[in-house]
Amino acid sequence: MARQGRAEGRIIGLVPTMGALHEGHLSLIARAKKECSPLIASIFVNPKQFGPKEDFAKYPRAFESDSEKLKQAGVDVLFAPDDAEIYPKEFSTYVQVEGLSEKLEGRSRPGHFRGVTTVVMKLLQIVQPHHAYFGRKDAQQARLITQMARDLNVDAEIVVCPIVRESDGLALSSRNVYLNPEERKSATVLHRALEVAKEELASGVRDALQLKDAIQRKLGAERLARVDYAEIVDAESFEPVVRVSKACYVLLAVFFGKTRLIDNLYVEPKAPDVDELVFHL
Ligand code: PAJ
Repeated sequence: MARQGRAEGRIIGLVPTMGALHEGHLSLIARAKKECSPLIASIFVNPKQFGPKEDFAKYPRAFESDSEKLKQAGVDVLFAPDDAEIYPKEFSTYVQVEGLSEKLEGRSRPGHFRGVTTVVMKLLQIVQPHHAYFGRKDAQQARLITQMARDLNVDAEIVVCPIVRESDGLALSSRNVYLNPEERKSATVLHRALEVAKEELASGVRDALQLKDAIQRKLGAERLARVDYAEIVDAESFEPVVRVSKACYVLLAVFFGKTRLIDNLYVEPKAPDVDELVFHL
């Protein structure tokens, strides 16, 4: 289908997901729908990106309602392979982006990104899309996939889309269903802490330590929040910065009970060599 579509000059789009679809996923579908035809969405809960102590077995699965949502959203093909189709018994080749994949999320979740890049590479090979869509909610994942595509000459543009949030600021995530009501309330501190960073930056603060102090104070005031990391990193290298002077991410990973959530603020200069910043929250 991809070969034929490409030969006919059609723009093939791919939106990879692990299902349990929410408005975040659907925003990627809506964007892709505007730019591509045919549009393919995949649902595959990828065992290789879950650590041995992580939530693979209990990861939310909602195939019936997911396929209905995708149909409503105008997806042309739903690709929902089973484990053996993606990882047959003799499977033994992995894709790993060195360096980038070992920091931050990679350090907290060893092997996670190796699983992500391997499965995304396979999906790109199978579907052969012109455009593949990912959310900035998983900023490091999107950065790694962009790097992988560049390094391995993948003939697809990696499109990174904005974060979709609940009305109280919590970023949509399939894992939000794990939160009990008290944890759910506390989890808005992710967004509140990022707002603090945004306000500080908007008022001219550029020193990373000063920003991190303000963020940590906000997170620390929330009894149920246990911080895994709160970092300000260069948007390309994901190395911590001392000062915010070019495109950066403020990255948060915080536990609420057993549930680990991530969120981020993307900041970039309004124009080259200009101090004024643009915020993507
Ligand atoms: P999953 O968590 O299902 O997310 C699928 C895509 O939706 C990812 O690109 C993710 O960044 C995006 N997304 C999730 N929440 C979002 C939100 N609130 N706003 C905008 N986009 C959001 O990420 C994965 O699956 C997997 O790692 C995958 C890439 C499918 C590989 O297995």
